Amino acid sequence: MRDALGSVQSVLVLGGNSEIALAIVDRLVASRCKKVVLGVRSPASATTTLNRLRSSGVDADTIVFDALDPASHAKVIDAAADRIGDLDMVILAFGVLGEQSEFNADPVAAAEAARVNFVGAVSSGLATAAKLRAQGHGTILAITSVAGVRARADNFVYGSTKAGMDAFAQGLGDSLIGSGARCVVVRPGFVHTRMTEGMKPAPFAATPDKIADAVINGLQKNKEMIWAPPILSTLFTILRHLPRPLWRKISAG
Ligand SMILES: NC(=O)c1ccc[n+]([C@@H]2O[C@H](COP(=O)([O-])OP(=O)(O)OC[C@H]3O[C@@H](n4cnc5c(N)ncnc54)[C@H](OP(=O)(O)O)[C@@H]3O)[C@@H](O)[C@H]2O)c1
Repeated sequence: MRDALGSVQSVLVLGGNSEIALAIVDRLVASRCKKVVLGVRSPASATTTLNRLRSSGVDADTIVFDALDPASHAKVIDAAADRIGDLDMVILAFGVLGEQSEFNADPVAAAEAARVNFVGAVSSGLATAAKLRAQGHGTILAITSVAGVRARADNFVYGSTKAGMDAFAQGLGDSLIGSGARCVVVRPGFVHTRMTEGMKPAPFAATPDKIADAVINGLQKNKEMIWAPPILSTLFTILRHLPRPLWRKISAG
């Protein structure tokens, strides 16, 4: 339950090694969040983060979470709530980018990316929503992407999985109205993380810290949709309406 000042006190991150999510968690911890559970495929992969959080006084733990195992998702959410009590915030941060050229050559790999990014978000999002509805409060932060706002030829598999997740998360948010819980969509642009290492940055590329600042700012303003950085909202209002031949030209890598 949020404290008397409205601060998030407990957070579960699905995709608990995500650099974007961890930057958000750092800001929540700085604002009195005391309990963190990191949902990760391999608990050993989160040891450094866990030690860092614990050394700053946070009650932190890991839980095994695999987006590719939808049958386990409700149990993961329940186990996290058993460990830290009510979940004030759940961040859906897992995802894979992949290479469009590899997906073109390997449709099975493309389907697997879709299972992680979209199917995993559907099952974990619904399982989370059921828990937050029962609590009567809590926020789902669904990290989608501007790549889903308009698909590009050089990453349309990823973009389409994020478009699906984005539509799902908006609908989920609408379905939660009146329950006390909510779902906030976060649409980052290019972010310098492990996921984009070695890639040519897109315009308005940002660090995880900048994205986290935009997210906290958006949450404070009670936004349902957070563009990060915020300038992307204006940019994509224009880009999404460009004629396709022009879009193909300017979006080509
Ligand atoms: N970086 C960008 O430019 C950018 C832009 C827009 C949106 N996003 C989205 O933001 C989110 C976080 O990305 P990030 O940049 O912080 O990248 P990141 O540091 O690479 O984090 C991605 C996370 O997804 C996890 N993951 C991958 N497959 C999984 C699976 N099957 N089950 C559970 N977890 C799985 C990874 O776990 P492991 O540690 O086990 O590998 C990792 O923790 C993603 O959804 C991404 O699509 C990123």
